[in-house]
Amino acid sequence: MPPRFADAAEARQVAQAFDLRRLPAEYYANPYPTYHALREHDPVHRLPDGGYFLSRYADCVAVYKDTGAYSSDKKREFAPKYGDSLLFEHHTTSLVFNDPPLHTRVRRIIAGAFTPRAIADMEQPVIALVDGLLDAMAAKGQADLIADLAAAVPVEVIGNLLAVPREERGPLRDWSLAILGALEPVLNEEQRERGEQAVAGFTEYLRGLVAERRARPGDPERDVLTRLIQGEADGARLSERELLHNIVFILNAGHETTTNLIGNGLYALLEWPEEKARLIARPELIRLAVEELLRFESSNQLGNRVTTRAVELGGVPMPAGTFITIGIGAANRDPAEFADPDRLDVAREPNRHLAFGSGAHVCAGLNVARLEGRIAIGRFLARFPDYRLAGEPVRGGRARFRGFLSIPVAM
Ligand code: HEM
Repeated sequence: MPPRFADAAEARQVAQAFDLRRLPAEYYANPYPTYHALREHDPVHRLPDGGYFLSRYADCVAVYKDTGAYSSDKKREFAPKYGDSLLFEHHTTSLVFNDPPLHTRVRRIIAGAFTPRAIADMEQPVIALVDGLLDAMAAKGQADLIADLAAAVPVEVIGNLLAVPREERGPLRDWSLAILGALEPVLNEEQRERGEQAVAGFTEYLRGLVAERRARPGDPERDVLTRLIQGEADGARLSERELLHNIVFILNAGHETTTNLIGNGLYALLEWPEEKARLIARPELIRLAVEELLRFESSNQLGNRVTTRAVELGGVPMPAGTFITIGIGAANRDPAEFADPDRLDVAREPNRHLAFGSGAHVCAGLNVARLEGRIAIGRFLARFPDYRLAGEPVRGGRARFRGFLSIPVAM
């Protein structure tokens, strides 16, 4: 159970002062008391910049479900943030930051490319990859759960998914971190410059990869990149620019989020030894456990929308053009939806968490992420049931993407 505030007056004060642009250190360590305070005292909280922060599950779902009233288009928000830049071009071309009809067209092609066969083909390579990583950890006796496992899995999986040659995968992770780092609410010059160079390097690399795949296509039922290039049978295609930016987006979307699912998940299990023991005793619970770990420590804590017209949300009237932050991490601890929400329950059912969002933009890679989480967490636990901390874990210290930079453990 996370610590709550001393009394209702303190909680109310914390809720009213909540500002995403000025978050105290304790929020990064544990944001859930703040989310509870917000939900109880100011669930549709007006931020100092005029936007609103939502912490109730029902309000977050209402926003996700209504793409007409709540837009994902970021051009207006990103223009002043990024200026005329590659970061602007990238973020405003990727499907996640667009509305219908562009979103619908791109989404259909991407969803079509994640064929059941392409995902089923991933299972054995992921098992082999994870087992190899676990062997290396066993040989050392100590390990960093992030570097040695959580971060090593997604880069290979997404690399396999798009059939990026193994020897060319080195820079993918840094590019991806730099581009996502530039999405933080407040951006410094160095983050901006790194993001800019990453978009340039990444798209340049992909231009070559796409040209090669056009020349030598793979099986479109199995090779996601070939399918993305060829589009749908009815003639729906991506332009070259849409193709490159959306591939970058897929690579990015699948990296840090999944790293944090594995890292946050194995850390949460250390904090809940009875749940860890229960999962080890009943490995068939792993599918439910992954959903619960996604809910309990969501790797993507914040979502965003902007109102397209005047709306009333949770009883609060808002004009068109209002920025909304969807508190995914807060909604996932809402007692109105989840009984005893601060308790980790590896068999929780039902578990309609919002870790993957909801509605038209719901994560297109959710089955890839689930597969990685299930294999990495399940096989790690089976192999090293007595793992324990061997040093102080280091948190990433970011509001949007919640996770660790390192978790030293002994096996
Ligand atoms: C634990 C891991 C993951 C988490 C927590 C996660 C979370 C999310 C969330 C919350 C959204 C919705 C964004 C919004 O509505 O504004 C989203 C969208 C998306 N995700 Fe994931 N994701 C994960 C892994 C992946 C993976 C592995 C891939 C690809 C292989 C992926 C691809 C995408 C794509 C393409 C979208 C955009 C969908 C759209 O806008 O229609 N994600 N993800």
